[in-house]
Amino acid sequence: SAGSLRDGYGRVARDLRVSVTDRCNLRCTYCMPAEGLPWLAKPEMLTDDELVRLVGIFTALGVTQVRLTGGEPLLRRSLVDLVRRIAALPERPRIAMTTNGIALDRLAAPLADAGLDRVNVSLDTIDPQTFRELTLRDRFADVERGLKAAADAGLVPVKVNAVAMRGVNDTGVPDLLQWCLDRGYELRFIEQMPLDAQHGWDRDRMVSATEIRDRLGERFGLTPLPDADRGSAPAERFLIDGGPATVGVIASVTAPFCGACDRTRLTADGQVRNCLFSQRETDLRALLRSGADDEEIAAAIVGEMRVKRAGHGIDDPSFVQPDRPMSSIGG
Ligand code: GTP
Ligand code: 5AD
Ligand code: SF4
Repeated sequence: SAGSLRDGYGRVARDLRVSVTDRCNLRCTYCMPAEGLPWLAKPEMLTDDELVRLVGIFTALGVTQVRLTGGEPLLRRSLVDLVRRIAALPERPRIAMTTNGIALDRLAAPLADAGLDRVNVSLDTIDPQTFRELTLRDRFADVERGLKAAADAGLVPVKVNAVAMRGVNDTGVPDLLQWCLDRGYELRFIEQMPLDAQHGWDRDRMVSATEIRDRLGERFGLTPLPDADRGSAPAERFLIDGGPATVGVIASVTAPFCGACDRTRLTADGQVRNCLFSQRETDLRALLRSGADDEEIAAAIVGEMRVKRAGHGIDDPSFVQPDRPMSSIGG
């Protein structure tokens, strides 16, 4: 029954974000502590068979794009095989991935071959020293090679996601854009959201979309693209110096795109979440493992989407950050 993942506000979920692991090989300071997090144990994680079965139920419910995320998705050993199996589903979804890019040098070509359509790579700075301070790992060169491998493998358009942090990488914003322009990557800046494991997010320290635009405007001419072309895309885009290249700004906090949200999420331990900021989940893993059939699982997914809230509510006085951090929900 295509198109039945409709919520109470008339929004339809077509974009499934699947976290394939909660682990990561970086320690971005805005995401998780230096010592890492209590990772899921193997038996808690969905197996490949379980994961592919659930994705198949979602596509039967009208999902047309699957985005693999983490943690860091390339850490899942079976990832190439997972992509191949998702690409072989009866109604083949588009398959994208959000990754830190470290292992793409080796994996971009096999993943493209297995059916991956495109990648978004998280990269907050092009200064190796700042990269090391921000991620606590000295891996900038790996990401640089990974990005190139992705472009060479045809995983295009290659997008780069950057979270701007005051006093850390904010002054490097125009340099990062020039670097991406020179290589043909589509850069998007993201406002930091209250989803860090440390619960240290502070609205007043957040670098806003307006601020990013102002910083970029000092070096580049920015022409906003019509909002009408945006659809459910999270980024507001600008032509740079007349185009054709563009830069995006994702104002998740100051100008949320919740009203046009077409997303739903599956965590590595098999919970469906209707929002990044949801305070509830439905346990599909328990259903699966108790022998439920596809119809029962589909009904549980439909039920979870029905109670999706209108927006993230970050500005409500009663806002409470979800217990799960971004790395365990899926980016
Ligand atoms: P494209 O299809 O390439 O546009 O992908 P995308 O932008 O949806 O995916 P990506 O994983 O690159 O997400 C970019 C950023 O948008 C993430 O890093 C988050 O900061 C933010 N984001 C993703 N999903 C949500 C969401 O459901 N709500 C909010 N508020 N922000 C989100
Ligand atoms: N707010 C916004 N973006 C975040 N990311 C990780 N944590 C946050 C946060 N608190 C980004 C990463 C990556 C994607 C998965 O989400 O930098 O681009
Ligand atoms: Fe890893 Fe992404 Fe978190 Fe950075 S933001 S530590 S790359 S999961």
